[in-house]
Amino acid sequence: PRTVSRSSSGDLEVGGKSVVELAADYGTPAYLLDEDDLRARCRDFRDAFAGADVFYAGKSFLCKAVVRIVEEEGLFLDVCSGGELAVALAAGFPPERLGFHGNNKSVSELQRALDAGVGRIIVDSFDEISRLSDLAEKSGKRPTVLIRVTVGVEAHTHEFIATAHEDQKFGFSLSGGAAFAAAARILDEDILDLRGLHSHIGSQIFDTSGFEVSARRILELQAQIRDARGVELPELDLGGGFGIAYTTQDQPSTAGDLAKRIIKIVESECELASLRVPKLSIEPGRAIVGPAVLTLYEVGTVKDVDGIRTYVSVDGGMSDNIRTALYDASYSATMANRSSAAEPILARVVGKHCESGDIVVKDEFLPADVQPGDLLAVPGTGAYCRSMASNYNHVPRPPVVAVRDGAARVIVRRETEDDLLALDVG
Ligand code: LLP
Repeated sequence: PRTVSRSSSGDLEVGGKSVVELAADYGTPAYLLDEDDLRARCRDFRDAFAGADVFYAGKSFLCKAVVRIVEEEGLFLDVCSGGELAVALAAGFPPERLGFHGNNKSVSELQRALDAGVGRIIVDSFDEISRLSDLAEKSGKRPTVLIRVTVGVEAHTHEFIATAHEDQKFGFSLSGGAAFAAAARILDEDILDLRGLHSHIGSQIFDTSGFEVSARRILELQAQIRDARGVELPELDLGGGFGIAYTTQDQPSTAGDLAKRIIKIVESECELASLRVPKLSIEPGRAIVGPAVLTLYEVGTVKDVDGIRTYVSVDGGMSDNIRTALYDASYSATMANRSSAAEPILARVVGKHCESGDIVVKDEFLPADVQPGDLLAVPGTGAYCRSMASNYNHVPRPPVVAVRDGAARVIVRRETEDDLLALDVG
């Protein structure tokens, strides 16, 4: 985060407050959100993509306070389940600025979206078109929809988070003709208000050429629809997926660079196909919230294993950050309560769960005098950590504490064992 620094006494500060104080006040593990950093990232995208709608992808991390922040910063919001929709509405987010995603939205989720007046429903299957059309006819509403198109781009990222190659569950295939057929059907039936096409090619992407290919292919479909049906769809949503730096090896583009390249390719493709430039939307999640959070842990044990490496166990683990175990993701860790002049040793930061894959940071050099009671900070944990947290081993999930100008406030409280037991009604 932008406002993390080391004080003269050696401890880290987030948002103008020492992590030692934050640990004493709120306990560990805790997700510390640098609110100014989050707001600045919202503004970076909004300003860079001026004229486009920037939807914050709520799946990366959602709670009412964050909904209010993205609203105040002028963003739109993408939700992909009834639960995320409920959080957005509970925080008073304007429903017309919501986009609703998902490959298997239930009847009740679609009905809630209709009742709330959600601005965009991104349809993902013929079954969904039927389901939504039935509900629209019954309720006398005409929801605005985009068609999610699978453009056949192989984004260079982990297989599970790449989404636009053909052999996966999302969207209507472009090459097989399903995407054109979906557009033709919606236009024929004239129940849903088809406003545009959508593509999302994956996540944690650094190479922008994937977005260029995706924009080109989707605009070809746009031209095909125009030629066959005489309709120029006014909107184009290119999804999210912009990569962030988890370690010093990652070199992400700035929002400004991304905007320049993406807008240029859309404009030149439109010119080639004599299309009017559609209104653009993007849906960044990770790039907005990922770098704004660090997880603060306390070290519990330090174990040297046969001189191979040192295992440093912290008081959380795969229940608050599953990404290392699930995607082989890389993170870094740093001593947070003090600086140390001790020589660096090769360490692995592991959690407290009952399996050996419970790794938070695979390889990190930590000072040789790291010891129980020290605090470790793992940065870049704002996206897909709290949102994918679990209660494995009945470990309560950590709180999210927002810090700004030296003042902290809990925005998601720590779960308790009583919370967990409250669900256990047997
Ligand atoms: N739009 C759509 C339609 C999406 O499916 C996603 C992410 C996004 C936007 C936001 O992508 P972002 O800008 O955050 O990369 N759990 C995985 C990531 C899954 C992403 C799913 N969809 C991870 O931890 O890396």
